[in-house]
Amino acid sequence: MTIDQEIQKAAEILAGAKNAAASCGAGVSAESGIATFRDPGGVWERVNPAEVGTADGLMATLQRSPEKLLPFFRELLDTFERAEPNPAHVALRDLEHMGILKTVVTQNIDNLHLEAGNTDVVEVHGNSFRFRCLSCSWSQDFSRKELIREVKEKIDSAEGFTLSEIIEMMPKCEHCQSVTRPDVVMFGEAVQDIPRAFDAARKCDVMLAVGTSGVVYPAAYLPFQAKEAGAWVIVVNPNENAFQRVSDAYIPLKAGEAMPKLVESVKSIIAG
Ligand code: OAD
Repeated sequence: MTIDQEIQKAAEILAGAKNAAASCGAGVSAESGIATFRDPGGVWERVNPAEVGTADGLMATLQRSPEKLLPFFRELLDTFERAEPNPAHVALRDLEHMGILKTVVTQNIDNLHLEAGNTDVVEVHGNSFRFRCLSCSWSQDFSRKELIREVKEKIDSAEGFTLSEIIEMMPKCEHCQSVTRPDVVMFGEAVQDIPRAFDAARKCDVMLAVGTSGVVYPAAYLPFQAKEAGAWVIVVNPNENAFQRVSDAYIPLKAGEAMPKLVESVKSIIAG
C-alpha cells in the first residue's frame, strides 16, 4: 500500500472509533526541537545512560564531576524553554475534541501534550516540571517557562556547579522544607500511573502508537496489550519500530506531517 492508502485506511479506522487511545514517545516531540533518545544524535549518544539515566549514576556523576554535565543541562534547559507543541500534539488534541481520542499515554516528560490541550494524559515517565519532596508526599506542578527561567538565573548566579549548589537550586518542599527532585522516572525506578495506562490500552477501540521505538517496558507493552484486547493499531513512525508487526495501518512519516493529514482525512470521512 502507498502512504496515502495507509493514511486513508487509518482515517477510516479512526472515523469509526469512540474510545481511541494514543501511546506516544519521544518522536512526537522531535519536531518541537527535543531530541529523541535512540535516533542518530539522540540523547543516549551524547550522554551515558549509566551516568545520567539512573538516580545513583546521576548523583555519583554530580558528586565526582558536575561540570561535565553543565553544558548538557544548559542545552536541555534552552531546548525545553523554546519547545512548543507541534502539529502532532495539536492533531492529538483535535482528535480529542472530535470525541475520538480519550486518553494519551506518554513517555515524554516535557508537558507538551497538556499544553496542547489534551485533558486525559497519563505521563508514565513523570513530568520534569513537577517536583516532589524526598521526605513527605508533597508535590507541585510548576510553569515550564517560569521554572526554567528561575533555574537558569540560579545557575548563572551560583559560584560554582557543585552537588550542594544544585540541590539548593531545587524548589523547597512547602510542607517540610526538605529537598525535592523533578518527578521523573529514571531507569530502575517505578513507572507512574501504569494501571491507568493499561486500563486505557485494554478498553480502547483504536490504539495509536506514535513516535516510540517500543524498546522501553512496560510502556512498550501498551500497543500489544491493546491489540490482544481486540483494538485496531495504527503506527506513526518514520523508522522501523517494534509495533509494525501488529499494525493495521502504518504511516512511515514524521508525526508532525502524518498526524495533521490523518485528522484532515478523518474529518472528510465524517463529513461524508
Ligand atoms: P526512542 O528514542 O527510543 O525512540 C524514538 C522513536 O521516535 C523512534 O522510533 C524514531 O523512529 C521515532 N521518531 C523520530 N523522529 C520522529 C518524528 N519526527 N515523528 C515520529 N516519530 C519519530 O524514544 P522512546 O520510544 O520515547 O525513558 O523511548 C522511551 C524511553 O527511552 C524514554 O521515555 C526514556 C528513554 O530511555 C526513560 O528515561 C525512563
